[in-house]
Amino acid sequence: MIFTVAIDGPAAAGKGTISRAVAGRFGLRHLDTGLLYRAVGVKGGDPAQAARQLTPEDLDRDDLRTLEAGQAASRVAAIPEVRAALVDFQRRFARSEGGAVLDGRDIGTVICPEAEVKLYVTASAQVRAHRRWLEVGGDKARVLAEVQDRDARDMGRADAPLRAAAEAVVIDTSELGIDEAVAAACAVVAGRLAKGP
Ligand code: C5P
Repeated sequence: MIFTVAIDGPAAAGKGTISRAVAGRFGLRHLDTGLLYRAVGVKGGDPAQAARQLTPEDLDRDDLRTLEAGQAASRVAAIPEVRAALVDFQRRFARSEGGAVLDGRDIGTVICPEAEVKLYVTASAQVRAHRRWLEVGGDKARVLAEVQDRDARDMGRADAPLRAAAEAVVIDTSELGIDEAVAAACAVVAGRLAKGP
């Protein structure tokens, strides 16, 4: 079965949690595409070359989840050569036998416009910053500024800007608990699966 669930949205909206839950529930493979950009961002040197030479070990580093890695990722993610170098791997993963969930910024719009399910998971910047702050701690105003900075860069770039695909189902998690958000996403996937792959 070829079946792709594309989950896009801004930083800290809940995409990761929802993606892992959907993948587990329906037995699909999961790719957190943000990790690819984070790994390129922290690798140093020429970003385009780093993207072309990315290895599985690069994705295993334990410093990929920091605020700094997120900022570095969104800077290199605006470079067209970096994005181009990562397209094939993501497309192959998306259309591999058995089905896949990919979460990122451009999965439903650029990487896999033919995805069977497209979700756009979002929440207010304040809510997202609060969640991120619970994870990383530190100065709350700085965490909000970091979220807003990344939103502006991810939505404002020329190449594959963050936006909801026309046919995406929007899930706003500002006032949803994790269980409710996961249930909403699973209902959309189950509905589409019921029609056949
Ligand atoms: O999702 P995550 O916060 O890990 O993504 C880090 C950064 O990588 C994002 O802010 C964005 O700039 C970039 N990214 C992207 N396209 C994707 C996934 C992530 O541009 N598909």
